[in-house]
Amino acid sequence: MRSDSGAGVKTADAGSGPLASEGELAPILLSPPHLSGEEASAISSALASNWIAPAGPDLELFEREVAERVGVVDACALSSGTAALHLALLVVGVGPGDEVLCPTLTFAASANAIRYCGGTPVFIDSSPDTWNVDPALLAEELASAARRGQLPRAVIVVDLYGQCADYDPILESCREFGVPVIVDAAQSIGASYKGSAAGSFGDVSALSFNGNKMITCGGGGMLLSNNRDYVERSRFLATQAREPMPYNHHKEIGYNYRLSNILAAVGRAQLRVLEARVAARRRNLAFYEEHLGSLDGVSLAPEATYGVRSAWLSCILVDQERFGATPEMIRERLATRNIEARPIWKPMHLQPVFRGCRSVGGSVSAQIFAKGLCLPSGSSLSESDLERVVFEIVECGR
Ligand SMILES: Cc1ncc(COP(=O)(O)O)c(C=O)c1O
Repeated sequence: MRSDSGAGVKTADAGSGPLASEGELAPILLSPPHLSGEEASAISSALASNWIAPAGPDLELFEREVAERVGVVDACALSSGTAALHLALLVVGVGPGDEVLCPTLTFAASANAIRYCGGTPVFIDSSPDTWNVDPALLAEELASAARRGQLPRAVIVVDLYGQCADYDPILESCREFGVPVIVDAAQSIGASYKGSAAGSFGDVSALSFNGNKMITCGGGGMLLSNNRDYVERSRFLATQAREPMPYNHHKEIGYNYRLSNILAAVGRAQLRVLEARVAARRRNLAFYEEHLGSLDGVSLAPEATYGVRSAWLSCILVDQERFGATPEMIRERLATRNIEARPIWKPMHLQPVFRGCRSVGGSVSAQIFAKGLCLPSGSSLSESDLERVVFEIVECGR
């Protein structure tokens, strides 16, 4: 099982922690896949139908069911969330040389997709209240770009760790300047903002069904939009941009990005348990809040009053002076107890690969990175797993 964003599927990469050998404590991973038990029969039925291809009834139904659940007009199932972001940027017209605003505090996939199109990311800092893009900074940057006569071609907004960004002011400023909005909702399916589902905001949005996400296909993603033309165009680009001719005819460069029908069958089984997965992750968060929230120098990631988080990952901020340990010391101690924790995403403006890209602010996200830690957050965690995690963290501060 792969772990592209490093969020805790069992891998050999640094930070996934030692695996249990005989006599060791069972591993507690950051965010492992959580099957419902219905996936095997869903796969068997798909195999029996012989739709073993990036086309078929499960694929179409998965698209329809996700679109319905999120409340958008149409959806295109893809091989990954990254592919969905790439196509989202292409369908709104991002091309070589175009600037795209992007939160600096995100997983690299959000910014990499800009590069795939030949675009240039401009990174925007977080709001300390939500950790998501700061709507005021975004508005200022759009206004100053308009004054320079260099508006960005698009804005990417990310629902970080499963909490929706503050869409009202964000969408208002983007509308004012006529800049399309792409929402990276890879971590937030199941969350809501003022009663509307994550993934329903912006011109186009992208979901991920990676193994570490709220629900998984093993690997997969989806592009959603209320604009049918965008979804149709993404289907076209995702199938090698093959023109509707009896022979292969191509006028544009396309991609092989469609999701397999077999994986869509897994996704459909997972979608049926989405509510339970959100509830379980929110229970984790509530447990951490109850048992860690009152420790001197430890606070949980803030929950915005405007919505309900999917609680994809539970994150804490640690003040070393008051708590007596750094987040890295906690992470290392947990690792020795076979418990996987991970640092918060390192902001994009601090990444060597994006050196030279402009950034607006950056100190808020840098602080969150320096003080933050993501705790085990899987929906299959038991209460005794959570107690083990809490016990070790409390011990760290003694
Ligand atoms: C914020 C964010 N965007 C994009 C992605 C990319 O999704 P995928 O791994 O399905 O390509 C991920 C997760 O991996 C993510 O966390």
